[in-house]
Amino acid sequence: MRAVVCHEFAPIDRLVIEERPDLDPAPGKVVVAVRAAGVNYVDGLFVQGKYQIKPPLPFTPGGEVAGDVVAVGEGVDSVSVGERVLAMPWLGGFASQVELSAGAVVPIPGALSYGQAAALVQSYGTMLYSLTRRTHVSPGEWVLVLGAGGGIGLAAIDVARHLGARVIAAASSEEKRAAAIRAGAEATIDYEHEDLKARAREISGGGVDIVVDPVGDRFADPALRALTWMGRYLVIGFAGGDIPRLPANQVLLNNRTVVGVDWGAWTMRDPDDNRALLAELMALAGSGALSPVEPVEYPLENVIQALTDLQDRKVSGKVVLVP
Ligand SMILES: NC(=O)c1ccc[n+]([C@@H]2O[C@H](COP(=O)([O-])OP(=O)(O)OC[C@H]3O[C@@H](n4cnc5c(N)ncnc54)[C@H](OP(=O)(O)O)[C@@H]3O)[C@@H](O)[C@H]2O)c1
Repeated sequence: MRAVVCHEFAPIDRLVIEERPDLDPAPGKVVVAVRAAGVNYVDGLFVQGKYQIKPPLPFTPGGEVAGDVVAVGEGVDSVSVGERVLAMPWLGGFASQVELSAGAVVPIPGALSYGQAAALVQSYGTMLYSLTRRTHVSPGEWVLVLGAGGGIGLAAIDVARHLGARVIAAASSEEKRAAAIRAGAEATIDYEHEDLKARAREISGGGVDIVVDPVGDRFADPALRALTWMGRYLVIGFAGGDIPRLPANQVLLNNRTVVGVDWGAWTMRDPDDNRALLAELMALAGSGALSPVEPVEYPLENVIQALTDLQDRKVSGKVVLVP
């Protein structure tokens, strides 16, 4: 098997690929031949030591996989060899094989491809949690999505549309805005060149009900000011770099609410509730109620390029590594 290995917290180009013996599952475990591994913004943070959790070195990054079960350990009867499964190991996914607890793998829902399945859980789990547990969306409400052509952004559009909302997508390039329209947004804003607050207010006819913000930085202030009466501002991430300081007077005005979203921490504190959320997600994805985009594929060997392109804002949509 082949695995991407991080030997030191360093720039992304220090990652290496190593050959290792094929895995043999321990009791209660299964080995999955990885057909696609989801690449997330956070993977780049992990390998550079910039994330709040620092894995012990050396480690293989990669938090999401989809593939085929190729071996099952002693005592495993819930999963069989040949099943198409997905899993979220947090680490270890950037490899041609991964060993997982039998209870941690889930059948790939419906007709989803390996790529769609490998790119599903982090983005859609976060957005389903955000829009159904951290706040609620009523049909017809306006949702403004920042970084709308990225992984979180496209999932936010799909989930919001499923809940009956109307979506305005803000993104930096024509390609990303086109992807957002294909995902279900009805209007777009070029937030690098247009006035984000003015355009969002104009399109929504007075102000948006919800802001989904995975970017932060200089876009946060105008997005907060674009919220209407009782508007909710979802703090998802800071891909833009700077953590914004939101003016408290703008939260007071219009009875707005700023809502923090830490889906990863919630999955650990409330695993039963998260299982219910994931079952809901699998049912929605399996029935076609949600339509995750086909991701951009990079060979496993091009892991450095994939992480660099994501970090440099070059990618529209999700990225997967294909071993
Ligand atoms: N809170 C949670 O539970 C949770 C869960 C998952 C992810 N996250 C966080 O959400 C954020 C977005 O994740 P993602 O998977 O959507 O990432 P992504 O696919 O890389 O998309 C992020 C988007 O941010 C925008 N951006 C603006 N300035 C940027 C910059 N300087 N560098 C990179 N991107 C920039 C880009 O869109 P434009 O070019 O259009 O501006 C890009 O498409 C990350 O910070 C991640 O850690 C949080």
